[in-house]
Amino acid sequence: MRIAFFSTLPFEQTSFEPYRSHHHITYITETLTPETAQRAEGHTAVCAFVNDDLSRPTLTRLKELGVGVIGMRGTGLDNLDQLALRDLGMTLLHIPGYSPSSVAEMSVALLMSLVRHVPEASQRVRAGNFTIDGLMGTDLHGKTVGVVGTGHIGRAFVRIMQGFGCHVLAYDIRPNRKLLDTGVRYTSLTELLRQSDIMSLHCPLNPLTDYLINAQALALMKPGALLINTGRGRLVDTRAVLNALDSGQLGGYAADVYERERAYFHYDFSDSPITDPLLNQLRTHPNVLLTAHQSFLTKEAMQQISRGLMNQLSFYENQQTALVTKASMC
Ligand code: NAI
Repeated sequence: MRIAFFSTLPFEQTSFEPYRSHHHITYITETLTPETAQRAEGHTAVCAFVNDDLSRPTLTRLKELGVGVIGMRGTGLDNLDQLALRDLGMTLLHIPGYSPSSVAEMSVALLMSLVRHVPEASQRVRAGNFTIDGLMGTDLHGKTVGVVGTGHIGRAFVRIMQGFGCHVLAYDIRPNRKLLDTGVRYTSLTELLRQSDIMSLHCPLNPLTDYLINAQALALMKPGALLINTGRGRLVDTRAVLNALDSGQLGGYAADVYERERAYFHYDFSDSPITDPLLNQLRTHPNVLLTAHQSFLTKEAMQQISRGLMNQLSFYENQQTALVTKASMC
């Protein structure tokens, strides 16, 4: 199959290299948009990533160019218009639930780094400053952790938090019965906000969860609580988070995602101006720890994504060939 592989990151070519004997892959570093969709001409499938624009105009253009399949390299489908995909008769292939440990463990890494001031401590030592004043941390043992979304990643995160000796509260529109047996208590979102010392977001971004954590939600949280977001940037209202941090209502924010990350994340701006004032405030705030959407980035997750997606594309291609053969025999 001829695959146009948008938003290619350098390390991805290594992960997908073993599959080049089965598929013709064109690596394109540009992000997919209605304008760049033209690059998919001559390909049957498009492989897209988290910050590609898979809105109706893009999908319509791809369909006109002869693309029939969209393979997603991410779990979240918030950047894809699924209704348009169906209307256009296109096929979606993706890998729900790939290595949930990769994202759950990154959430824990962010949480630990935030509560124990690891980035600042390391910077001091690099600079030859071995003082430890101002680095007072907090034990996680005995704390109440609120988890929003107890799917693949949320459940992996819950297990780790239970291992730390935390009490876990959860909120999900579809509670998981098995988690109840492990001591997790499901509550309303309001209760979860009121009772949690730490909150971590693991639900998808959709119209119901857009700005789920806004000024009203932040006001309900325990003063000084911590918020972790490895889900999607628009799950939180960044402006409201910054205000809550400045007032002390929120004790710290650690995130791997940002609501307007598309223009910046995964690119090097170290020698270029960053003109998004909200991003500049966020990345330089003393109580914020921000990474550039890398929670999925483990060897195990990359292997599962590349193997799973390429196998699905081969399966799809074989099915199409079988259908064509059957039709020609009739
Ligand atoms: P999943 O589908 O297994 O779990 C999502 C859970 O959220 C489900 O239990 C669902 O019932 C729940 N949910 C849906 N709507 C909700 C609502 N309105 N309120 C509360 N809960 C709700 O998905 P998975 O694999 O656990 O991934 C979760 C999210 O993590 C993805 O949608 C994606 O946005 C994000 N993600 C981030 C990555 C990163 O690199 N930063 C990598 C992979 C995923």
